[in-house]
Amino acid sequence: MTLTEGHLTIDPPAGVPVWNVDPYAPDIQTDPIPFFADLRAKGPFAYLPKYSMLICGGYEVTKEVFSDHERFVSSRGVGLQDFSMGEPWRPPSIVLEVDPPDHNRTRRAIMRALSPKVVADLKPLFKADADALVASLIGRDIDGVADLAEVFPCTVFPKAVGLKNPDRKMLLSYGLMVFNALGPDNAQRQAAMANAPVVGPWIAEQCLRENLTEGGIGAAIYASADDGVLTEDEAGMLVRSLLSAGVDTTVTAVGSALWSFAKAPEQFAVLRDDPQGRALAAFEETIRYTSPVNAFCRTTNVDTEVAGVSIAAGTKILCVLGAANLDDAHWLEADRFDISRRTIGHLGLGAGVHTCVGQNIARAEGQAVLQALGEQVSAIKQTGPAVWRANNAIRALDSLPLRLEA
Ligand code: HEM
Repeated sequence: MTLTEGHLTIDPPAGVPVWNVDPYAPDIQTDPIPFFADLRAKGPFAYLPKYSMLICGGYEVTKEVFSDHERFVSSRGVGLQDFSMGEPWRPPSIVLEVDPPDHNRTRRAIMRALSPKVVADLKPLFKADADALVASLIGRDIDGVADLAEVFPCTVFPKAVGLKNPDRKMLLSYGLMVFNALGPDNAQRQAAMANAPVVGPWIAEQCLRENLTEGGIGAAIYASADDGVLTEDEAGMLVRSLLSAGVDTTVTAVGSALWSFAKAPEQFAVLRDDPQGRALAAFEETIRYTSPVNAFCRTTNVDTEVAGVSIAAGTKILCVLGAANLDDAHWLEADRFDISRRTIGHLGLGAGVHTCVGQNIARAEGQAVLQALGEQVSAIKQTGPAVWRANNAIRALDSLPLRLEA
């Protein structure tokens, strides 16, 4: 048995084209659209010799692999490493990186802490913060990422979780670690992991019960420990899951919404016509159109077949959600940002039992910002080139110079 990047080395399955491309190369990560089209043109799967794995990006196949938790498990890691072959860099997530039936209990504990009532109560707080932030930025030359997209979720989300000592820089550094760790041992991963000795212990500290305010989402997770549903350690691990998955994703989505609207002023006009009525749909279309979570893996747990391709147990498959969400075999004018389209079925928040458990919080944040923009801003004018960031799992902007016109 030989390993490649911590998973089983496999031969290309019969009928699958061998493709000498590196999906983790910075030039592809920062400009992925041509790569998405090439990937879909390869057929249901391609074999990547560099990583000895399969890759898929057509809508139907990606959905099948990503959502069938019995054949394509998450417990062996949603990145390149197969956790059944070696220790991961941190103890695996007890919700994201676990399969049913173990997954059911931890997922339920998070769902209880993120109940519809909790989200409904947070909405006015999110809106007030979004209103104030947008008002403070109007008419100035700003960086849409550093001044808006990073500020908003890093303000409202730690408050909602109940962090007593929030620190934007630390939270963002942790996000970079978590998502870059899903890729190979490349420069992106190494740069992010260089911060692990400081950021890792800081995050662990914030997840302790005594560092969470009463009445927050974190405290609600600890309530499941009081009820005997979770151990104290498991509660801390689930708070860690929220901090892992709930910051970079929403930061990225807000940045990408600004970028999408800057490129499509006619769509911003549609939002401005009815900000309250359209902000949510605009956020959902942003997630489809830009797929902040660009690509995660699954591992086949059994010998199986998908779209006529036989796949051996132990195969890593990189599911490129970004390509599936732009597949014109599934979406009409897939590459058009259209906030009036029916986005139902997009894979940007996942599919199946692991579908984003924080999606209603994410939507509430996105809705608040986009509504505030639609209400207060007449136009989003890009004033310099958008710079994308090389990242092993997230498709994120690094900077976006712009002006929010009064
Ligand atoms: C626009 C923002 C967001 C995007 C695009 C996003 C995307 C995703 C995706 C694609 C998955 C599925 C992963 C998989 O199946 O392997 C996922 C799962 C998850 N997300 Fe989100 N997410 C967002 C915001 C959030 C927020 C705000 C939170 C926390 C409140 C959160 C917490 C989680 C957790 C804990 C999981 C694992 C769920 C499970 O395995 O059952 N996410 N997210």
